[in-house]
Amino acid sequence: MDRRTRMENFVIRKAKIGDVRAIQDLIMPYAREGRLLPRSLSELYSRIRDFFVCEDNGRIVGCCGLHIVWEDLAEITSLAVNKEFHGRGIGRSLVQACIEEAEELGIPRLFVLTYEEEFFRKLGFQIVDKNIFPQKIWVDCLKCPKFPECDEVALLFNVSAPQESS
Ligand SMILES: CC(C)(COP(=O)(O)OP(=O)(O)OC[C@H]1O[C@@H](n2cnc3c(N)ncnc32)[C@H](O)[C@@H]1OP(=O)(O)O)[C@@H](O)C(=O)NCCC(=O)NCCS
Repeated sequence: MDRRTRMENFVIRKAKIGDVRAIQDLIMPYAREGRLLPRSLSELYSRIRDFFVCEDNGRIVGCCGLHIVWEDLAEITSLAVNKEFHGRGIGRSLVQACIEEAEELGIPRLFVLTYEEEFFRKLGFQIVDKNIFPQKIWVDCLKCPKFPECDEVALLFNVSAPQESS
């Protein structure tokens, strides 16, 4: 299936192996600010099938991963949009692409751990208690410099439920 979505001059598509360094370049400035987990090239190569990217005339300006955790749960990871491109709907479109893929895969629930609570609420995610999730989700957190003092908010999205758009 062709997963390309167009808006303005942007194309949202599944990532390719050749996008990995550009994805890391997007993530790392936010990782240095403590807003995203850093990702090694090795992790990104092994997780490349998780990723969608946003391309602007051949330049990768946004990325987002859908990481499957269990039969009924996946995580939105490494959502990053180049600062020059904020506020143009790219973040929303990347998350929407992940939601659509989760729906196709039959995964009913998506979660995210984030500081961007308002952004995800606008997309239909709801705040939940972090403790409702299985221990498996904390594997990545062991790599976080803030572990175990996590101050991120957990939000959940029900893939099959009707959503209000804003
Ligand atoms: C969060 C982020 C991905 C948003 O990307 P973006 O492309 O600027 O977002 P969009 O333009 O798609 O915004 C969609 C909606 O969310 C709103 N929004 C965007 N960022 C927001 C924020 N930080 N707080 C509140 N609302 C926000 C927009 O105003 C827009 O609302 P509207 O539809 O009512 O106009 C981007 O700011 C980013 O890369 N942040 C740094 C990395 C990060 O924190 N990622 C999240 C980790 S899980």
